[in-house]
Amino acid sequence: MTSPKINALRLNHSLEDLGRIGHTDQGMQRVAFSDFDVEGRAHTMELMRRVGLGVRIDPAGNIIGRKDGSVPGLTPIALGSHIDTVPSGGKYDGALGVMGAVECLRTLQDEGTATRHPLEVLVFTNEEGTGFPHWLFGSRAMAGSLAPEDLTAVDHEGVGLETRLQAIGGDLSRIHEAIRQPGDISAYLELHIEQGPSLERSGTPIGVVTGITGRAAFEVEVKGAANHAGTTPMGVRHDALLSASRLILTVERIASELEVCRVGTVGRVSVSPNATNVVPGTVGFSVEFRDVESKALTAAEAEFRRNAAMIEDADGVSVEIQALPPTIPAPIKQEMQDLVAQASAGLGLATERLPSGAGHDAQAMAAITNVAMIFVPSIDGISHSPSEFSTPQACAEGAQVLLDLLLLADQMD
Ligand code: HGY
Ligand code: MN
Ligand code: MN
Repeated sequence: MTSPKINALRLNHSLEDLGRIGHTDQGMQRVAFSDFDVEGRAHTMELMRRVGLGVRIDPAGNIIGRKDGSVPGLTPIALGSHIDTVPSGGKYDGALGVMGAVECLRTLQDEGTATRHPLEVLVFTNEEGTGFPHWLFGSRAMAGSLAPEDLTAVDHEGVGLETRLQAIGGDLSRIHEAIRQPGDISAYLELHIEQGPSLERSGTPIGVVTGITGRAAFEVEVKGAANHAGTTPMGVRHDALLSASRLILTVERIASELEVCRVGTVGRVSVSPNATNVVPGTVGFSVEFRDVESKALTAAEAEFRRNAAMIEDADGVSVEIQALPPTIPAPIKQEMQDLVAQASAGLGLATERLPSGAGHDAQAMAAITNVAMIFVPSIDGISHSPSEFSTPQACAEGAQVLLDLLLLADQMD
């Protein structure tokens, strides 16, 4: 018996509609907790209600749309992703997983197809961690893996989590109520754009994700001495931006030249007092290292700290390094990979097995349930950019694999 077919046009229209919320000529600005994010969440909850889901927001701000199953006592199969974007980002990262999940539920509703398991569509809070610098926030809250420093954090505007969560219907004082235990969810399935070049290069329509990269992230503050740019001789300066620049160059060296880990990035820098005629006194910047091996992340951090200590001594500045909660690499179980391959083969779609260089909510959910990820090609491998694009056909093929995967998972246990 062939499976119900998703409506490709409707799916792509829903991506375009969501893509208009937060769209500017510098790309998507639907950053977590922003007004655009609040608008996008309201839009998505309305779509979820229209496909017959009972919608609630958990204390971590996660949106949960639920549809009962036909067999009493079974735990839900969950599918979803996130709708928050990075600043000046693209309209497919996260959105495809959520709109794809809604399209699957809408197709089941149109066909009158009941599933044995209850189904949950999940929209996780602050997956990107750009506005509020603690990524995978909603999925880590659900998996019970938030660290104390996640809860006491403030964002770059100095606003605390309690205020941000209230704005989206969450409640920090009840954050523990968002926790789901192992066994509460039968499986978590996520459709996502690859955000890299592999599938396009090999001409493969579907990626079977084999594992998700880990990340070690830090907030660094270099303190020197602000002083007059015209009167302060070069030999007596403690120029925080010069020292920070030396330290920033070591991030690239650790990943590229020394190959300690797969990638290293400094994405955000702030300079104070940030004036043409003042020797910078303080510089703050972000650092992140990524790799599928935890030991590579540990080694990268050690090498970075070693360089920071040397620069402190040589330049007479202080360097403070605050580690964000680490994100451990998440392998995806062979049997879950094989389910994605089976769903794709049933549709006549070729697959390629590959690791994810990007982080995803699925890696947090792997702590409490079986997870599977489906990738579709990113044109030119571009993501986290206004140029991010996946074709309507690729999006539709990914959503169809998601539906067939869901129906395969529904026959298990
Ligand atoms: O940054 C990432 O890897 C993901 O897009 N949040
Ligand atoms: Mn994403
Ligand atoms: Mn992203």
